[in-house]
Amino acid sequence: MATVSQCIMALLGALLCLSTPVFSVSFTYTTPRGFFLQEDPSLNSSPPDYTKISYGLLNRSYPTDQSHSNNNNNSSPTKPPWSRFTDYLTALNRNNRNNPTNNNNNTTYYKLLYLARHGEAHHNVAQSYYGTKCWDCYWSQQPGNGTKTWLDAEMTTRGVAQIQASNVFWRDVAPAEEIPFPRSFYVSPMARTLATANLTFASLPVWNGSGRFKPVVKESLRETINQCTCAWRHPRSRIAARFPDYEFEEGFSEEDDLFTGKTIESASAQALRIKGFLDDLFENDESLVVSVTTHGVNINPLLGVVGHPNPRFNITTGQAVAMLVAAQRVEGEKGGVGEPPVSAEVCGVCGPVG
Ligand SMILES: *[C@@H]1O[C@H](CO)[C@@H](O)[C@H](O)[C@H]1NC(C)=O
Ligand SMILES: *[C@@H]1O[C@H](CO)[C@@H](O)[C@H](O)[C@H]1NC(C)=O
Ligand SMILES: *[C@@H]1O[C@H](CO)[C@@H](O)[C@H](O)[C@H]1NC(C)=O
Ligand SMILES: *[C@@H]1O[C@H](CO)[C@@H](O)[C@H](O)[C@H]1NC(C)=O
Ligand SMILES: *[C@@H]1O[C@H](CO)[C@@H](O)[C@H](O)[C@H]1NC(C)=O
Ligand SMILES: *[C@@H]1O[C@H](CO)[C@@H](O)[C@H](O)[C@H]1NC(C)=O
Ligand SMILES: *[C@@H]1O[C@H](CO)[C@@H](O)[C@H](O)[C@H]1NC(C)=O
Ligand SMILES: *[C@@H]1O[C@H](CO)[C@@H](O)[C@H](O)[C@H]1NC(C)=O
Repeated sequence: MATVSQCIMALLGALLCLSTPVFSVSFTYTTPRGFFLQEDPSLNSSPPDYTKISYGLLNRSYPTDQSHSNNNNNSSPTKPPWSRFTDYLTALNRNNRNNPTNNNNNTTYYKLLYLARHGEAHHNVAQSYYGTKCWDCYWSQQPGNGTKTWLDAEMTTRGVAQIQASNVFWRDVAPAEEIPFPRSFYVSPMARTLATANLTFASLPVWNGSGRFKPVVKESLRETINQCTCAWRHPRSRIAARFPDYEFEEGFSEEDDLFTGKTIESASAQALRIKGFLDDLFENDESLVVSVTTHGVNINPLLGVVGHPNPRFNITTGQAVAMLVAAQRVEGEKGGVGEPPVSAEVCGVCGPVG
């Protein structure tokens, strides 16, 4: 029978256990090279349309080509490039799990990410119309100009057409070329990205017309938190009413608690929240093929975080970029803290000259 002091010791132990901080988990990212056309910075001045080039996958051989042929009684080099890439991706992760010297800490995981930028929206047009300086210090801080609205901006007609092309790509081209369909979908909570994801994916025959496209709405994928009313998002209940199938990450708030209208998020803070998105993805989602619908201002920092060879890739509206990402898990590493926000410049009414 346990003595009183043993019981007290056990109780103390339990208390100590409870107060032991949970390990934070982080990942160190790299982008394996030699897979996609978009790794080459020389095409940034005129980036090719991803829907016309099969997402830019290079036609190369893989170490798994041969085993593919053994398993499937097929001559693997005659399989389409995307099919062989997908086999390679699967093998990268399988080899990983089977390696007895690997434990969770230090294991490297691989995913294929499709990063899509929303179609052109009203704030994109208005920024060019007014010029960046006047836009930033005056017009971006207004909900609109009487003719156009950019508070949580919607897509323009041109933007919708851009995304219809993405929809056709996923409906017709991707199945024909055996481009792997995403297993998980994440979307920024702004109106333009929510609508972009819906227009791209919701009508595809893969759901058999039953509208079961259910992306997860993530606050960490939102626009740069700055002075622009286009950086404010609608309340959660409004989003849910418009997109009833969409799911929300845990803790997603009703109101937008992050927008101030007066301050500009620092680049370092923004890169850290994007890294937070990736850390969460690699820790909690086993899908090897993941779709992310977000903003150009997030795609470039993400490319930076994962060590992409072309982090300044020119991602124009309605376009997308694919990449293979390797993530090495590190337990017990603290996330950094970004620079604080700065105040936005304010000026009087200004406008296009002429
Ligand atoms: C990005 O691409 C667009 C469209 O092709 C082009 O007009 C623009 O000049 C490019 N930007 C850069 C920085 O190369
Ligand atoms: C890929 O390259 C192989 C070997 O050169 C070739 O046989 C095949 O036709 C190419 N596939 C495509 C889609 O270009
Ligand atoms: C296909 O491969 C499997 C396993 O490698 C083998 O058992 C089977 O006999 C093969 N089938 C044909 C038709 O070659
Ligand atoms: C972590 O994994 C890398 C290879 O991915 C290996 O070179 C290194 O020795 C490992 N480190 C530890 C502490 O296990
Ligand atoms: C509002 O901005 C748009 C550009 O987004 C411009 O075409 C339109 O003329 C502007 N309206 C007014 C009243 O200035
Ligand atoms: C989302 O897409 C579905 C399928 O195309 C469509 O029926 C629905 O109207 C769209 N919803 C919104 C809010 O755009
Ligand atoms: C779609 O429906 C058809 C016929 O009912 C079925 O064979 C197919 O498996 C379904 N596809 C998906 C992705 O559920
Ligand atoms: C995880 O591995 C790294 C080296 O790869 C090491 O520095 C760190 O202490 C390990 N963390 C834990 C909790 O074992």
